[in-house]
Amino acid sequence: MQACVSSKEIVPRMILLKIGGSVLTDKARETTINEANMCMVAQQIANTRVSKLMLVHGAGSFGHPQAIKYLSEGFSAQGIWKTHAAVCLLNTIFIDELQSKNVPALPIHPLDHVIVDHGKIVEFNLVALQLMLENNVIPVIHGDVVMDRSRRFSILSGDQLVTHLARIMRPQKTGMGTDVDGIIYEGKTIRHLTPTDFERYRAGITGSGNIDVTGGMLHKVSELIDLAKLGISSQIFDATKEGNIARFLAAGNDLGTTISAE
Ligand SMILES: Nc1ncnc2c1ncn2[C@@H]1O[C@H](COP(=O)(O)OP(=O)(O)O)[C@@H](O)[C@H]1O
Ligand SMILES: [Mg+2]
Repeated sequence: MQACVSSKEIVPRMILLKIGGSVLTDKARETTINEANMCMVAQQIANTRVSKLMLVHGAGSFGHPQAIKYLSEGFSAQGIWKTHAAVCLLNTIFIDELQSKNVPALPIHPLDHVIVDHGKIVEFNLVALQLMLENNVIPVIHGDVVMDRSRRFSILSGDQLVTHLARIMRPQKTGMGTDVDGIIYEGKTIRHLTPTDFERYRAGITGSGNIDVTGGMLHKVSELIDLAKLGISSQIFDATKEGNIARFLAAGNDLGTTISAE
């Protein structure tokens, strides 16, 4: 009898993908999932098998409004809990959606694994993440509130986590899915950005059009420019557009903006 062959092509490489809070949630409404987008994102991940995939997601309306409400005055265990609990809820809902489509996803919560100093990651215990990858599990990490050696606590963005993980794990491909086509300058998408170009375009790149305590597009691009300087290229693309995540995972290097050293 002929062996049953899966129709899904397994892409033999490691990919790091961040899905923005702007994709998975309605950033204009506190604690509101964008159900259509979440379902569409999970389906594309389910349809495209990658041998090693690390997912990061932002907090969207499950974290940014809570940080403003409960952490503006400074350190408070209650404020940290309210913000952390909100983003953990988003993480749980996203993992439920992935698991319902037979995607072997499990959570990694930065509050438990990461220490920062002046907002910068100084320790990230990657043992659980590495063991998950070895067991063909997809770790799903998220922007979070974490303990800071100097400032007591800091908000750690999903964008910072991408830079750190790309630097340490050296995936073959790194991408950030957001709610715009890439970096827009004078109404057009910049197809390719280098650290030198960044200085020229910087003034046209700002924060988020929505509530985003971590600095929107300018923060995202700054993180990816730091990565490009280390020789790691990445893409920013529109993950709200059906098919783009599948294209990114399968092959596509032609989406949105590519950021690289040269
Ligand atoms: N030059 C720019 N090009 C594209 N987006 C920009 C630019 N400047 C500011 N933005 C804003 O950045 C937003 C994306 O950042 P953000 O809201 O933080 O997304 P995410 O939730 O995916 O991290 C866009 O929706 C847009 O409002
Ligand atoms: Mg953001």
